[in-house]
Amino acid sequence: MVRQKIIMDNDTGIDDSLGLLYLLASPEAEIIGIASSAGNVPARRVAANNLALLDLCRAPELEVALGAAEPLAIPLRTTEDTHGPQGVGYAELPESTRKLSDRSAAQLWVDLVREHPGEIVGLCTGPLTNLALALRLEPQLPQLLRRLVIMGGAFNHPGNTTPTNEWNVHVDPEAAKEVFDAFSAAPADRRPIVCALDITETIEMRPKHLALLAERAASTPIELVRESDPPEARSGASNPLVRFLTDAVRFYFDFHKLYDQGYLAHMHDPFAAAVALDHALAVTKPATVDVELAGTITRATTVADWAGMWEREPNADIVIGTDPELFFERLISRVGDYAAAIYPEVHA
Ligand code: BDR
Ligand code: CA
Repeated sequence: MVRQKIIMDNDTGIDDSLGLLYLLASPEAEIIGIASSAGNVPARRVAANNLALLDLCRAPELEVALGAAEPLAIPLRTTEDTHGPQGVGYAELPESTRKLSDRSAAQLWVDLVREHPGEIVGLCTGPLTNLALALRLEPQLPQLLRRLVIMGGAFNHPGNTTPTNEWNVHVDPEAAKEVFDAFSAAPADRRPIVCALDITETIEMRPKHLALLAERAASTPIELVRESDPPEARSGASNPLVRFLTDAVRFYFDFHKLYDQGYLAHMHDPFAAAVALDHALAVTKPATVDVELAGTITRATTVADWAGMWEREPNADIVIGTDPELFFERLISRVGDYAAAIYPEVHA
C-alpha cells in the first residue's frame, strides 16, 4: 500500500489530539511532520503535547516542529477554558524526553513540500500562522502540495468565538487571509478542502461513542461518563490511551454543556483528519473565500462567495455534507483497534 504523506499543523488541543490519533491509527497515513501552532494553548505547550502524545502512542520517532509564538499581526489569545490547563482537558501528559526538531514549523512545511512535490496532503487544525509564514518563504507551496485540508471558518453558521468568528481564524485572521489568497490561482483539484463550523458542529461526540471506543479496545471497565461526574473524577480504564481520551474528552463535554450545547463535544479536528485521508467522506461545494480584516465587529469573519458575485475564481471547496455516524464508526474502529494494538500487555 502506498501510504499518503501528511503534514499535520495543529494546536493540540483536545480535538487536535483525536485528529493526531486518527492519523496514527490509520494504516494508509504516513505522518512526515507535525507543525505546532500557537492557538488553544501557547506553541511550546502544543509542541510538548504533540511529543507527549507520541510517547503515549509508543509511536516511532516523528519530527515535531515548534511554530511561531505569536500570530502574524496581533497578540496571541489562548483558550484554556475550552481545552484545559495543558490543552488536553482533565488529562495530564508527562513531559516527553523526545527532542523538538531544530527547524521551525514554517521551514518544516517548506522543506517537506520541496522534497516531495505533489505528494503531500497538508492538514491544518489550528490557526494558519505557520502555513502563512511558509507561503512567504515558498510562494509555490500551493502547487507543491497535493492537497490542503483546513479546519476553520464559519460561513452560513454562527461563530464559536464571536457571533461570526470561528476560533482558528479568530486567532490569526491575517494568516487565514494570506492562505486563502495564495490558493486563488489553484486548479480545481488543488483547492483547499475547508471543514468549517457549518459541518464540524454536526460531528457530535457523545459519551456512548467513548464507551464504544473503550469496548473496541477491550479496555475495562467500560465507563459511561456523565454530566454529574465531578471535575476531579478520573478514568480508571485499563488501557492508557482510553484513559487519556476519557479524561480529555470529558472536559470537552463539560465545556460544551456549560455553553448550552448539550453533553456532547464537536469533533472538528478528527473530522478534518478523516477528510484528509478520504475526501469521499465530504460533499463539497466550490466558493471564493475571503477573510474580513477591517470590520469593527466582523473582523476575522470568513465570507464565502458561492455565486461568483466577486467575479473571482473559487479558492476553496467547502464541505457542505457528510455522514457523521460513518465518521464515528471509523474513529471508534481505528482508534479502538490502535489502542488495543499498542498496549497488548493490558490484555495479556
Ligand atoms: C477549532 O478551534 C479549536 O479550539 C479546536 O481545536 C478546533 O480546531 C474549532 O473552532
Ligand atoms: Ca484545533
